[in-house]
Amino acid sequence: MLKGRSLIDPMDFTVEELEEIFKLADDIIANPKEYMHAAEGKILATLFYEPSTRTRFSFETAMLRLGGQVVGFSEPNSSSVSKGETIADTIRIVSCYADIAAMRHPKEGAPKVASMYSTIPVINAGDGGHQHPTQTLTDLLTMRRTKKRLSNLTIGMCGDLKFGRTVHSLIKAMSRYDNNKIILISPDELKVPEYIKKEMLDKNNVEYKEAKRIEDVIDELDVLYMTRVQKERFFNEEDYIRLKDSYILNENKLKSAKDDMIILHPLPRVNEISYEVDNDKRAYYFKQAKNGMYVRMALMAKLMGVL
Ligand code: CP
Repeated sequence: MLKGRSLIDPMDFTVEELEEIFKLADDIIANPKEYMHAAEGKILATLFYEPSTRTRFSFETAMLRLGGQVVGFSEPNSSSVSKGETIADTIRIVSCYADIAAMRHPKEGAPKVASMYSTIPVINAGDGGHQHPTQTLTDLLTMRRTKKRLSNLTIGMCGDLKFGRTVHSLIKAMSRYDNNKIILISPDELKVPEYIKKEMLDKNNVEYKEAKRIEDVIDELDVLYMTRVQKERFFNEEDYIRLKDSYILNENKLKSAKDDMIILHPLPRVNEISYEVDNDKRAYYFKQAKNGMYVRMALMAKLMGVL
């Protein structure tokens, strides 16, 4: 039963509950008109304390496409946050006005705190370098629709594996499906944190290895998940400038990749995928972004209990 629950961490829902959301998303994609009035009378509050294009717009359009309405802020200084209001008080107030809330915050754990004081479902729309569970739903739905499975996959995750919250969430999620192999491709300075290796990969006996160059492992991959170097999480600009172009995927590097490998990226991209790759049939990142809207429609409908 998903009605009334919050989504803070990708592990909050069972594999079966995720499947329920993906099946509904599949049906929404196939029959969007049937869902146009599903959330009539419902209101989503988007509380974005950090910039966003995809996540905020996809949440908002998801609610509008379900027939509901949206309030919120994309600039916290336009709300009473600027006067020092706490997250606990803000969400208590938002709970009086809206039926569901999506929160993005630079501080790890902020959406979790909000969910503790909220009387409506709270969805973590990304908290600092920690987790981004609805991006993970987007990623899983895209893999499920293209590869027709979420197990027996070799997934290369490339780029900023230290600060990239989408990677942290995806590793968590993929570790629950059978027989997946994860290849972590990053420079030494941007390796995935030890706690994720220990608590997710080792604990769940997930096969994984680390690599420094895409070219060395690309022929093994079913999915290549590119990420940008997270400028906003660096403590000094020098390090960012030195590392920002560690990986640039181009057609030449794709030569030895499988014909049916898919290239994903949570976006935004900076330099890490050349524009020439956009025309490659393996490039799925724009379709992935569209899937994000459909999976958020399914998620919100389930949490509000309207479907
Ligand atoms: N993928 C993602 O979270 O993009 P935005 O930061 O634009 O929301």
